[in-house]
Amino acid sequence: MSGLRAATAVAGTNIALVKYWGKRDAALNLPAAGSLSLTLDGLGTRTTVSFSDALAADRLSLNGAPADARATARVAAFLERVRARAGLRAHAEVTTENTVPTSAGLASSASGFAALAVAATHAAGLGASPAELSELARLGSGSAARSIFGGFVEMARGERDDGRDAVAAPTLGGDAWSDVRLVVAVTSDAAKAIGSTEAMERTARTSPYHAAWIASVPRDLAEARAAVASRDLARLGVVAERSALRMHASAMAAEPGILYWNPATLAAMETVTALRASGRAAFFTIDAGPHVKVLCTAESASTVADALLRTPGVLRTVVAAPGRGAHLVEVA
Ligand code: PMV
Repeated sequence: MSGLRAATAVAGTNIALVKYWGKRDAALNLPAAGSLSLTLDGLGTRTTVSFSDALAADRLSLNGAPADARATARVAAFLERVRARAGLRAHAEVTTENTVPTSAGLASSASGFAALAVAATHAAGLGASPAELSELARLGSGSAARSIFGGFVEMARGERDDGRDAVAAPTLGGDAWSDVRLVVAVTSDAAKAIGSTEAMERTARTSPYHAAWIASVPRDLAEARAAVASRDLARLGVVAERSALRMHASAMAAEPGILYWNPATLAAMETVTALRASGRAAFFTIDAGPHVKVLCTAESASTVADALLRTPGVLRTVVAAPGRGAHLVEVA
């Protein structure tokens, strides 16, 4: 039992402004192109990991109830990597709570695997640098690599086959540009039609636009990086809309086509365009689902949220500020 302990970590989810859509290695979750995101405050995951020699298998509880076999297997595979690195045999009890209301329509895998990476390495007694934590989180979910860091974060494509250089790094901490907000317009309570892993794979295999999409990302990254460095919301927003539309165009052109949008998604996009026409800086992005996330200033957030709430089919809105990276909150 010596050296085995429990650790609790929290992580915020993140929303990509330059999207990740395509893998160069499926087993290691290596991205085919880089991405750039904003880590959010208040919407995330809190996870406790305790290793114990008394456990015959890893156990996972999710929001107060035992998780299903699929989720448990995904977490056990992740813990297996931590055990291998730490030279540990003990299984773990993992308790995880999402602070993202499921009703917010935001994916929890990004914050989930970031919190798990931090809690599991500490509980296993492993010292890990932020880059190593990002690499580990990426093995759970590609976007999780970015939630290790706060504020604006860039994920590198990397060149190496082993993925050591496919890690995220902060572009600008959340404190450095804190008056931005993301307003989430929730447009459906239904589960998404197709998961990101399968959809990315189908896009790469069958979409004639996949190669063009991947080739377009470096220019968007350079533009977004420059926009973040100069805190230029309009410049960043233009890239974010372009990146989201191109990602979705590549997926729509797959066989069979992948269409995540519903009528309210389009209506919310029109609301954003109208806000902009009236002089308000607001820019949309859309992930692997029908919800619309709108980048704006803190000052505009309530006006933007009100306009989205009045949009037919929008069920509710959530306003999120930039947040911190994944961090430890308790060690037993
Ligand atoms: O981390 P994954 O495998 O769930 O992929 C995330 C994909 C998008 O959310 C659509 C884009 C992104 O960069 O986060």
